Amino acid sequence: MWQQTRLFISLIVSASVSSQSCLLLSQPLLLFLVLLGSSHCFNNSPQIDPLIYEEQLLWIGGGAGEVNTYRIPLLTFTTRGSLLAFSEARKMSSGDIGAKFIAMRKSTDKGATWSPITFIVDDGDLVDGLNLGSVVVDEETGAVILIYSLCFHRYHCKPSSTMMVQSLDDGFTWSAPRNLSVELGVKSFAPGPGFGIQKRYAPNVGRLVVCGHGSIAGDGVFCILSDDHGASWRYGAALKSIPYNQPKQDLDFNPDECQPVELEDGSIVIHVRNQNNYHCRCRIIVRSLDGGETLPVEELVFDKALIDPAVAAGALQKQGVMYFTNPSSTQHRINLTLRWSFSDGKSWEKQAAQIWAGPSGYSSMTSLKGDSPEDSNYIYVIYEKGHKDYWETISFVKIHLYGGK
Ligand SMILES: *[C@@H]1O[C@H](CO)[C@@H](O)[C@H](O)[C@H]1NC(C)=O
Ligand SMILES: *[C@@H]1O[C@H](CO)[C@@H](O)[C@H](O)[C@H]1NC(C)=O
Repeated sequence: MWQQTRLFISLIVSASVSSQSCLLLSQPLLLFLVLLGSSHCFNNSPQIDPLIYEEQLLWIGGGAGEVNTYRIPLLTFTTRGSLLAFSEARKMSSGDIGAKFIAMRKSTDKGATWSPITFIVDDGDLVDGLNLGSVVVDEETGAVILIYSLCFHRYHCKPSSTMMVQSLDDGFTWSAPRNLSVELGVKSFAPGPGFGIQKRYAPNVGRLVVCGHGSIAGDGVFCILSDDHGASWRYGAALKSIPYNQPKQDLDFNPDECQPVELEDGSIVIHVRNQNNYHCRCRIIVRSLDGGETLPVEELVFDKALIDPAVAAGALQKQGVMYFTNPSSTQHRINLTLRWSFSDGKSWEKQAAQIWAGPSGYSSMTSLKGDSPEDSNYIYVIYEKGHKDYWETISFVKIHLYGGK
C-alpha cells in the first residue's frame, strides 16, 4: 500500500513537473507532499532547460611563463559561498608525468569575476610530479581539503604518496602538504579527478569519502574515508580491475577515474571511467550502500545511455536531480554535453544540452549551497576546451537550469 502511494505521488509529481503546473496543485495535496518530505515539486519547477548564462576561460596554456599546459580542472563550492577552481599547471610538457604546480582561482561573486592565478602547491622539479586530485569540503568545519598524488606512475621514483593540503580560510592560505601514505600505505592512488563528498544522510553522516583509482596494474576504484574531519584516513570500498595486478588488454574490466555523488537515500553512486571499454563504450556506475565501505557487484551497471570515450566525467546531485557532463562520443573527446536525470540516473532525459561541440575533455561540476533562489537556479561546470586539441584551455561555465527564467 505504501509503495502504491509512493508510486501515485511520484506520478503526480512528474506530471506536475512536465506540465509546469506545480503551483496549481490543490492546497491539501501540496501540504500532503510537503509532509512527505518531497522536495521535487518545488525544485523541478519550472522545467529544466539549461542555458549557458556565461562562460570564461580560467586557464590558457601555450607555454606562457612557467607553465606549458593546464589540465585536470576541479571546481568546488565553499561554506562561505565562494567558488574555488583548481588545475594542474604542467611546467614542461602537456604529459601526465612531470613537474607541476597546483593552480587555483577563486570567485566570491558566484562566478562573475575570478582572482588572479595562485600556485598553492609546487612539486619542484620531480620527474613524476603531482597529479590532481579530489577536493572535498567539510561543511561542519568549513575546511577545504585537496588530495593529490605524488609519483603516481612510479616513473623513475618510488614509492607513490597520497598527499593532502587544506585551507581553513576559504582558500586564502593553505597548510603544508601532509603525507597520508604514512597511514594509508604507498599504493598508487589517484584521487578523482573531481570532488569528494561529505555524507549528508545516514549511514555515516559527516564522513568524508574520496574516491579515485589505482595504477596501471593495480587499477580499480578505491575510496578513502575519514570520520574525523580529515584528521585520519583509511581505505574503504574497492572495485578491483580484472585481471587484478596484471597488465591489461583491450576490453578488460578496468574501472578508472571516478566521481561519487550521494543520493537522498544515503547511498553513494560512483560514476566511473570504463578505461578498456569492457562491455560497452559507456560509463560504469556502481553504488555503495554502506557509506563507502563496499562496492558490491550487484550494485554495478553499465549505463549505455551515457556513451563515453573513456574520460574523467562530471556528476552532481542537486535538489533531487542528477546531472552528468562528458564528451558525448564513443570515440573522441569532443561534444561536451550536460545531461540530467529525475530518477537518480536510472534513466536520462532525452533532451540534452551541448556545452561545446569541439574538442573537450575532463569536466567537473558544483553548485552553491545557499538558500537563495540564485543558488538553486544555477550549476557550475569546469572543463577542458579547445579548438584543435581539448587541452588548450580550461573553461568555466555558469548554467541557468531553467532557461534564464
Ligand atoms: C610518505 O610516506 C611514505 C610512508 O611512510 C613514505 O614511504 C614516502 O616516502 C613519503 N612520501 C613523501 C613525499 O614524503
Ligand atoms: C553531441 O551530443 C549530442 C547530445 O547527446 C548528440 O545528439 C550529438 O549527436 C552529438 N554530436 C556528435 C558530433 O557526436
